[in-house]
Amino acid sequence: MRKPVIAGNWKMHMTCAQTKDYMNRFLPLVEATPNDRHLVIAPPFTALSTLAETVSGTAVEISSQNVHWEDKGAYTAEISPTMLTEFQTKYTIVGHSEPRKYFSESDEQINKRAKSAQSHDLIPIVCVGETDEQRERGEAERVIRRQIEQGLEDTDPEKLVVAYEPIWAIGTGKTCEAKEANRICGLIRNWVNSSNLIIQYGGSVKPGNIDELMAMSDIDGVLVGGASLEPESFARIVNYQNI
Ligand code: PGA
Repeated sequence: MRKPVIAGNWKMHMTCAQTKDYMNRFLPLVEATPNDRHLVIAPPFTALSTLAETVSGTAVEISSQNVHWEDKGAYTAEISPTMLTEFQTKYTIVGHSEPRKYFSESDEQINKRAKSAQSHDLIPIVCVGETDEQRERGEAERVIRRQIEQGLEDTDPEKLVVAYEPIWAIGTGKTCEAKEANRICGLIRNWVNSSNLIIQYGGSVKPGNIDELMAMSDIDGVLVGGASLEPESFARIVNYQNI
């Protein structure tokens, strides 16, 4: 049985004060959420400690937005796995399309981050997905397959989440059709060859499309950006209804 993972990626939003305020409004809305799903929030590094204090004793789990492959060293601006686990961090996003695009993050680096995470009992949420142009040229499957093969080399599929995030759907309001997202997630499952692998969809997930996405056979959760910034809309996503 694959337990869905509903994760909010706050990106570069939320100070510590805003995190406290958000959680004061959010926690009562998820008090009755069934425990058949994981509920995860990925704040910026500076809010990890505040979030860890606020969610102690609740069902909310913590993710970071990145992790380095070394435990320590001369790596300015990076963060090590042990710095994250100190704040009860359980997951870490790696290979998101924004660092891929703005900081030329490579599949090789992503693979090192994912392996380092697993060796520290952090579950990597490895993001893959094609651009608009790649999809139009009919290259989507080839691009995603390469990201999967290189990014996940020598990782353990039992301690892993893959997020299929078509880049053209991120922050654009343009969601991938649920059936098409499900088809790609099914391909990813075959390539990784693991029936237990958790595969999320990400890209303009909102209260209006969550129920349909979660009804798909190969979609085991979602990675939510914009709609996770408002406690009410994220709570509605977390509290998705089985249709
Ligand atoms: P979005 O972002 O929900 O704002 O489209 C998703 C993501 O970047 O993970």
